[in-house]
Amino acid sequence: MQNSRFLRACRREPVDATPVWLMRQAGRYMSEYRELRTRYSILELIKSPELACEVTMQPIHAFDLDAAIIFADILPPLEGMGLELEFLKGEGPIIHNPVRTAKQIGLLKVPEPRKALSFTLEAIRLVRKELEPRGIPLIGFSGAPFTLASYAVEGGASKNRIEVKKLMWNEPVAWHVLMNKLATLAGEYLLAQAEAGAQALQLFDSWVGELSPADYKQFVLPYSRKALQIASKAGVPLIHFGTGTSGMLPLIHEAGGDVIGVDWRTDLATAWDQLGEGVAVQGNLDPVALFADWDALEPRVKAILESVKGRPGHIFNLGHGILPETPVETVRKLVDFVHEYTQTRA
Ligand code: CP3
Repeated sequence: MQNSRFLRACRREPVDATPVWLMRQAGRYMSEYRELRTRYSILELIKSPELACEVTMQPIHAFDLDAAIIFADILPPLEGMGLELEFLKGEGPIIHNPVRTAKQIGLLKVPEPRKALSFTLEAIRLVRKELEPRGIPLIGFSGAPFTLASYAVEGGASKNRIEVKKLMWNEPVAWHVLMNKLATLAGEYLLAQAEAGAQALQLFDSWVGELSPADYKQFVLPYSRKALQIASKAGVPLIHFGTGTSGMLPLIHEAGGDVIGVDWRTDLATAWDQLGEGVAVQGNLDPVALFADWDALEPRVKAILESVKGRPGHIFNLGHGILPETPVETVRKLVDFVHEYTQTRA
C-alpha cells in the first residue's frame, strides 16, 4: 500500500504513471449516487457507516482511480459545536444559528471527534477493508478553520462574506477564540481519521481565496498551521487545498502540507516554481473542462501533464470539486488518459 502511486507521489518519489483522483468523486454526477439519494438525505448517507462506505466505493468501482476519499462533508463537525446544520434541497447547506458575537462564540463547544464523528471514523474502518485488497489508499479530510468559520458565521453560502470579515476585523479577540476552537477540532478530527485508517489527509480551505494575503497571514495562517500541526502527529501525508490562492501560495505552504492543491486559475508549473521543490502538487484542471468535447479537453490535460513532466510529486486532480452534471464517460476517459499518457512517455 505504501508503494501505491498516490502515496509515492505524495512523498515525491518516482511513479510508474501519474496518480489521479477527483475532488468530490463520489456524488451526483453518478447515477448510482442519485439512486441512493432518492431514498436517503445527504446527512443520512454520511451518518450511516455502511451507506457512506458504499458511496465512497462507487467511483472506485466505476473508474481506475488511484485514491478514494471518505464520503462525508466538511460541515457535520460543526454540529458537535452546537450549530444546527441542514442541507436544503437545491440551496446547499445552512446553519440555523450562526455565531456573530463574542458571547455566542464563547458558548461553542469543541467536541471530541472520536465521539461526535464516530460515524465517519467507523465508515473509514469499513472502507479500508474494501480498499485493502485493491491496494488503493484512502484520504480523510476536514474543512480548514477559515472555510468552517465562513459557514459558522455567515450561516450558509455567501457571496461577499461580509459577516465573517466584519467579525475578523471588528472583533479580533472573538475571532481568535473561534479560530482556535475550529483549528483544534479540525486537527483532532484529521488525526482521528488517520488513527481509524486514513492514509492521507486533506485540509479543504475552499473559500480562502476571498482574503487578501495580508489578512490571510494575520487572521488565518496561524490556525491552519495549528490544525495541520496536530494532524501531522499521524505521520501520513497532508494535502493543503484552497481555491483562488494564486496571490498567496507561499503563505499556504508556510501554513503546512506535504502536497499543495492548486486550482486552474494558476498555471501549475508556475505555482510549483513558487512553492519550491520541497512539496508535491495536486491539480489543476478546470472542472468545467469535463463538459467540453474530448478533442478540446485532451490538449488541456496534456498541457498540464507536460508542464510538470519529469518532476516527481504531481497528483492529477481537478482544481475544485467535480460538478453534478459532469458526463460520466468523460470522467472515465480522463482517468485512463492520465495513466496512459504518463506511462508511455516514461
Ligand atoms: O470528495 C468526495 O467525494 C467526498 C465527499 C465530499 C462532499 N463534500 C460530499 C458532498 C467532500 C470532500 C466535500 C467537501 C465540501 N463540502 C467542501 C469543500 C470542497 C469544495 O468543494 O469546496 C465544501 C465547501 C462543502 C460544503 C457543501 N456540501 C456544499 C456547499 C454543498 C452543497 C453544494 C453542492 O455541491 O451540492 C454540500 C453538499 C454535498 N457534499 C454534496 C456532496 C456529494 C451534494 C449533496 C447532495 O447529494 O445533494
